[in-house]
Amino acid sequence: MPKLNASTLRALKGKQPIPMLTAYNFPLARSMEKSGLPVILVGDSVGMVEMGLPSTREVTLEHIQYHLAAVRRGAPNTHIIGDMPYGSDTSKEAAYKNAMRLIEAGADSVKLEGAKYDVIQHLIQKGIDVVGHTGLTPQTAQNFKQVGKDQQDASRIKEEAKGIEAAGAFMLVLEHIPASLGKEVTQAVSIPTIGIGAGSDCDGQVLVINDALGLGEYWPPFSKQYAHVSQTVDEVVSQFMQEVSDKNYP
Ligand code: KIV
Repeated sequence: MPKLNASTLRALKGKQPIPMLTAYNFPLARSMEKSGLPVILVGDSVGMVEMGLPSTREVTLEHIQYHLAAVRRGAPNTHIIGDMPYGSDTSKEAAYKNAMRLIEAGADSVKLEGAKYDVIQHLIQKGIDVVGHTGLTPQTAQNFKQVGKDQQDASRIKEEAKGIEAAGAFMLVLEHIPASLGKEVTQAVSIPTIGIGAGSDCDGQVLVINDALGLGEYWPPFSKQYAHVSQTVDEVVSQFMQEVSDKNYP
C-alpha cells in the first residue's frame, strides 16, 4: 500500500474507518506495515508503557526521536505521527524547532495536545502537518478519569475540537470522553476524529499497542486486549530457566 499523506488521510472521513496503533520499536512497526496498517503513532505513552515512568510528562524530545527512528526503519512506507512531548510546544518558535527534529527523525506529521491554536497554525504555515488531541490530555490531566461528562466540559471539548480544526489540523484524537460526545464532535468537524475511549462513532480508532497485546499489568478500562503477551513472556522465561537448570538446553 502506498504511504498515505495528511490530505489522503483527511479525505477518508466518511468514506473509510481509520485504524491507528502506537508503536515504539522496529519489530512491531515492521509487523504493522506488513499487515497494512495505514497510520502509526509514536506516542508519549512510550514513557509509561515502555519506560516505566510515572506519567507522560517525563518523556523528552530525545526519547521520541529515538523511538521514531526505530519505527521508521521498521515501517518505511507507513504514515508515522510523532508525539510532541510535554513542554516542547509551549511557544510557536520552540514548537517549530522541536517538530522539525521529529520530522528529521522520521515523522510525517506531529501530534500535540490541547487548544494550542496559534502553535498549530504556525506549524502548518511552516509546512508541518499537525494532528490535534482533545478530551483527556494526559500531559496536563490530574488523573485518567473520563472527561466531558457535564454539559460545560462537553461544550469546552466541542469548541476546542472546532478550534483545532480551524487552526488547520488534518486529524483529531479524542481521548476518554462519553461516546455521545465522541459522536457529536465527529459530526461537528470536517476532519477525521480518531477515538481512544470515545465510542464507536469516531472516524477511526487508536490503541496503545502494549494494551492491545496485553503486554503489561494495567490496562485502561477503554482499551481492548487482543492477546496476553506478558503471560507468554512469563511462560517462556520459566520454561527457559527450567531447561537450563535441567541441562536440557540447548
Ligand atoms: O501517546 C499516546 O499513545 C497517545 C494516544 C493515547 C492517543 O497520545
